[in-house]
Amino acid sequence: MTRVTGSGGSSGIFACWSRVDERAASLYERKKGCCGFSSVGKSVDSYSKPSSSLVEGFPDQVPPFPTETAVSIIEEELGAPVDKIFDRFDYEPIAAASLGQVHRASLKGQEFVIKVQRPGLKDLFDIDLKNLRVIAEYLQKVDPKSDGAKRDWVAIYDECASVLYQEIDYTKEAANAELFANNFKDMDYVKVPKIVREYTTPQVLTMEYVPGIKINRIKQLDQLGVDRQRLGRYVVESYLEQILSHGFFHADPHPGNIAVDDVNGGRLIFYDFGMMGSISSNIREGLLEAFYGVYEKNPDRVKFPQILDK
Ligand SMILES: Nc1ncnc2c1ncn2[C@@H]1O[C@H](COP(=O)(O)OP(=O)(O)O)[C@@H](O)[C@H]1O
Ligand SMILES: [Mg+2]
Repeated sequence: MTRVTGSGGSSGIFACWSRVDERAASLYERKKGCCGFSSVGKSVDSYSKPSSSLVEGFPDQVPPFPTETAVSIIEEELGAPVDKIFDRFDYEPIAAASLGQVHRASLKGQEFVIKVQRPGLKDLFDIDLKNLRVIAEYLQKVDPKSDGAKRDWVAIYDECASVLYQEIDYTKEAANAELFANNFKDMDYVKVPKIVREYTTPQVLTMEYVPGIKINRIKQLDQLGVDRQRLGRYVVESYLEQILSHGFFHADPHPGNIAVDDVNGGRLIFYDFGMMGSISSNIREGLLEAFYGVYEKNPDRVKFPQILDK
């Protein structure tokens, strides 16, 4: 799990590599041809597009991989043919993301989704990370740090590498989702798909199907009749809850990973628990103090250097 602390390595994750997905996308594309670094900074989300147009109009988007490959990964990981495991398995994916693609299925009258990881990701990560390590070591030597910042390039690299590898172990994602769900068990404005452990392995993640409208689809949200102001408040409250109460937060909250349905008058659905952050309790206390300071307009209570020095 990502550790977010008050010192150097913490912001490194976000500053250095803001989206694991983006890197993986270009890694995947590169796999077809040559070697070299992944290009950071592309937008690759194909979420919530109809599956037949997954790649239309998005030149740098990752196409879905062949369903036969997805099926063989599921069968190998779960040890049985998909038709034996599920009553229905949809061969057309509902979403193709950079790390995996998502298929729907049903079992005993219940709807599920199965996220299948793209093949060969670990090998690709190994190549790029080996090269990035060399660059990090080089920067460590030549960076004069004349601006006074305490940059530790190798530590930033280590943290990023560890996050990347954790993202491609779906059993870790399952554990994150369960912990997150438990943290919100008494709050009915947040929904987390239930994980089906029996059908979850490092490369296959099976969970409850929870459809929703992506949080940036304003028109569709209006058509659904949800109160957008209230939703906005829920987003802020849910993050305060994550950061200040539990110190465990969803660290990849882009619109592909947050949706809305009309249950309970409008509910936030979180997907994708591959990248999470955790905050130690002393930092949390400091943050809380700072929030109160801002709320009370009392600058003496807002002492960020003290928070970071704790
Ligand atoms: N439990 C679910 N129910 C319904 N749709 C889902 C579910 N999980 C994922 N999806 C859909 O699949 C997309 C990709 O899933 P996600 O977990 O974000 O994959 P990735 O880790 O590859 O980014 C989501 O944006 C959402 O549209
Ligand atoms: Mg995602």
